[in-house]
Amino acid sequence: MIEAFAGLYGPSPDVRVFRAPGRVNLIGEHTDYNLGFVLPVALELATYIAVAPGSDGKLRICSEHRHESDAMREWDLAGIGSLQRAGHWTDYPIGVARELMAIGFAIHPANLLIRGTVPEGAGLSSSAALEVASALAFLNGRGMAPVDLARLCQRAERNFVGMPCGIMDQYISIFGRERCAVEIDCRSLGHRLVPIPDTVAFVAVNSMVKHALAGSAYQERVAECAAAVTALQSRFPLVLSLRDVSSEQLAEVSNLMPETVARRARHVVTENARVNRFVDASSRGELEIMGRLMVESHRSLQHDYEVSCAELDFLVDAALGIEGVLGSRMTGGGFGGCTVTMLRHEAAGGFRDRIATAYERQFKVTPKIYSCTPSAGAGEVQDIETIPAAN
Ligand code: GLA
Repeated sequence: MIEAFAGLYGPSPDVRVFRAPGRVNLIGEHTDYNLGFVLPVALELATYIAVAPGSDGKLRICSEHRHESDAMREWDLAGIGSLQRAGHWTDYPIGVARELMAIGFAIHPANLLIRGTVPEGAGLSSSAALEVASALAFLNGRGMAPVDLARLCQRAERNFVGMPCGIMDQYISIFGRERCAVEIDCRSLGHRLVPIPDTVAFVAVNSMVKHALAGSAYQERVAECAAAVTALQSRFPLVLSLRDVSSEQLAEVSNLMPETVARRARHVVTENARVNRFVDASSRGELEIMGRLMVESHRSLQHDYEVSCAELDFLVDAALGIEGVLGSRMTGGGFGGCTVTMLRHEAAGGFRDRIATAYERQFKVTPKIYSCTPSAGAGEVQDIETIPAAN
C-alpha cells in the first residue's frame, strides 16, 4: 500500500496508515437509535487509509475500489466548509472533515489513499469503517477521546450523508476487541466486553442483495419509533425513548397507536430484552439459548419490524437445517446484506458448502461467506505486513 501511495502521489517519508474495521451485529437490531442495547463484533474486514501531508493547500482522496474516472477527487481546503452532499462515496470523508472543522480541528493539506476489504452494501458497515478511518487519517496522530470520535463520525453520516443512523457501527469500529463482542448501551455510551465462547464460531453469509431500499425504509422506521414514543408519553410521561418501555407498558397503550407502529415498538422492546438475555446466556455458556434468541430476533425483524427479505429469510431457514448450527438471523439494517449464523466450531467447513449450495439452487447466485473473527477496533497500523494486498 505504501508503494501504491508513492506511485500515486510520489514518495513521502511521512506516510502513516490507519485501519478501521467493519462489523457484524450478533443481536440487538434497530435498537441503537432507540437508545437501547446492541452486541456487535468488529471484523477483520477493514478499511485502510494511507495518508501524508500535502504541500499545495489541497486535500486529495483516492479510492482503489472505484473505476479510474471516479477514483480520485481533490478539493481546496478553503472550500470544504461550503460543500453540499454530492451523493458520492466522498460524502463520507468530506462529512467527517466538516465535523472535525466544526469542533475546531483544522484540516491540513493531505493526500489519502483508501483500500478496503469490507464489502459495500452488504450490511457489514463499510460506511462507518470509511468514516472512522477518514477521521483518523485527518487527525493524523492528533488525539480525541474514542467516544467523541464515534459520535463525530455518526454526526457526519447523519448531517452530511443524510442517513439518520444510530451509534452502533461507528462505536464498534472504534471499540472492537479481539475474541469479544461488545455490548453497547446506546444511551450511556458505555460498553462491556462479552467474550465469545471458544466452542462456537460466527459466520456471515452475504445474500448479495444490495440493501437499496434501506435508506427510505430506515427513515420510516425511525419515524415510526418516534410516533410510538409520543403515544406512550400520553400515559407514561417519563418515557423518553423505547429504551424506557416494558412489554407491559406497551401492551397497555398499544390501542392508542396504529397497529404497524405497535408492532415496530414491540420489536424494539423485545429485542432489547433479547440482548440482555443473550449476554447472560453467553456468560453461562448456554449455547442453545443464545441460538434460540438469535432466531427469535430474526422472526421479530421479519414479521414485526419488516426489514427482512425473501433471500435473508431463506438463508436463515436453510442455516437452521444444517448440522451444528445453533442460531441464525439477518444482521444490520436489513432489506438485503448478510445473515449471521452461530455454529459449533467443527461445523464451520460443512456449513459453508451446504449453505452456498442451497442458496445457489434457490436464487442462482453464489453467496459470499465471511468468518466473523472478532478483531481489534480502529487505530494506526503498526505492522505494514498486515495490510491486505490490493484486489
Ligand atoms: C444500520 C445503522 C445502525 C443500526 C443498524 C440496525 O447499520 O447504521 O446504526 O441502526 O442499521 O441495527
